[in-house]
This record gives sequence, structure tokens and C-alpha cells, in this order.
Amino acid sequence: MTPYSIVVLASGSGSLLQSLIDSQEQDNYTIDLVITDRDCPAVERAQRANIATRVIHMGPNRNQWDTTLRTALDTTHPDLIVSAGFMRVLGAEIVSAFEGRLINIHPALLPKFPGAHAVRDALAAGVATTGTTVHFVDYGVDTGAIIAQKEVAILPSDDEGTLHERIKVLEQELLVEVVARFAAGKVKYQVLREHPGSSDHE
Ligand code: GRF
Repeated sequence: MTPYSIVVLASGSGSLLQSLIDSQEQDNYTIDLVITDRDCPAVERAQRANIATRVIHMGPNRNQWDTTLRTALDTTHPDLIVSAGFMRVLGAEIVSAFEGRLINIHPALLPKFPGAHAVRDALAAGVATTGTTVHFVDYGVDTGAIIAQKEVAILPSDDEGTLHERIKVLEQELLVEVVARFAAGKVKYQVLREHPGSSDHE
């Protein structure tokens, strides 16, 4: 049986990618490609693990970028695409092609604090707890069906950096757990709304 194939999308330090790399064998999946939108430490982490990498820089033409990304994904035939710190919103062309096999991890308890500054927003809101969410990617921003969440207390001494690092410790565990469940065929997906081309995904 061919191993469960994963593509990871990243833009940053790649600590979540590293957790996925380290768990490949024990959780019966292989990361066949790492795609980034910029040169970043995540690329080096993949190269050190002998995983193929592709940097797709965002040029002046967003549609061209979407098509290049879609082509890179199509040729890999992944079972699952994991956005792990990818700082680009995936366009409708990607979502329509891979919805149900496309997940993201976000450093807040969605639907609270969506968007690019979730940790900073939770701190500013003065809430007692925040956390992380793994969800399916749909046509919105951080709006897809929630798969799993983990909570963390916000400490009086926290700043954005210390809080985010504590969240990332939870994320490294949660993302591996969720991907292992996908690889074991334990996660089902159903489109929650009607839109052109929608269908129930198993
Ligand atoms: C994670 O906190 C993720 O939730 C957010 O970006 C961070 C990625 O961290 N979207 P790293 O690049 O994997 O270290």
C-alpha cells in the first residue's frame, strides 16, 4: 500500500513542519513535498530531511501564483495538504480543487481571532485563555470546519512572543495527532454549505 502522501505549505521557521517530519514513520505518512512562498528556514528543514522543496514566490500576478501552486499540487497527487504557518490565503482555484484534503492550523480558538495577528489580538482582548485550531480550509479566511482545538492559559507576564511559543508547543502535538488520524482514515469531511461544485467528501 502506498504510504499516505502529504504536502506541507510553510512560510516561516518551520517548527510545525519539523514535528510532522519527525513523526512520518511512526504515523505512516510521507511528506512528499514542502512548498513555501518565500525563502525561509522551513525550506532548510525539508532539505535536511531529504524532502523535495518548491519556493513559489508571489509575483505581481496573483492568478499566476495560484495556477503555479495548483500545478505543483496536482503533480504530487497528495492525500492531504497541510498549511503549517503558510502566510498566504489560498485562492478559490486551490480550494475548489482540494477542499476536503486541505487543512490549516491557526494560533487561536476559532472562530475567535481569525486573521494574521491572532496571538496579538487575543492578548489585546484581555481573554484568560486562547489556543490553537486545526480546521479544513474553505473559501473564507480561517472559516472552515473545525477538526480539533487545544487551549492554553494566557499569563500576566505574557507578551506576543512568549504566548506564541507556548501555543506552538501545543500545535506541534495537535498537528501531528490530526495528521496521524487522517493517515489512519479516521477523519471525514462534509461540505457544510452549498456552492458550485460542492459534494460530500469522505
Ligand atoms: C504557527 O503558530 C501557526 O499556527 C501559524 O504560524 C506558526 C508557524 O510556526 N499560522 P512555524 O513556522 O511552524 O514555526
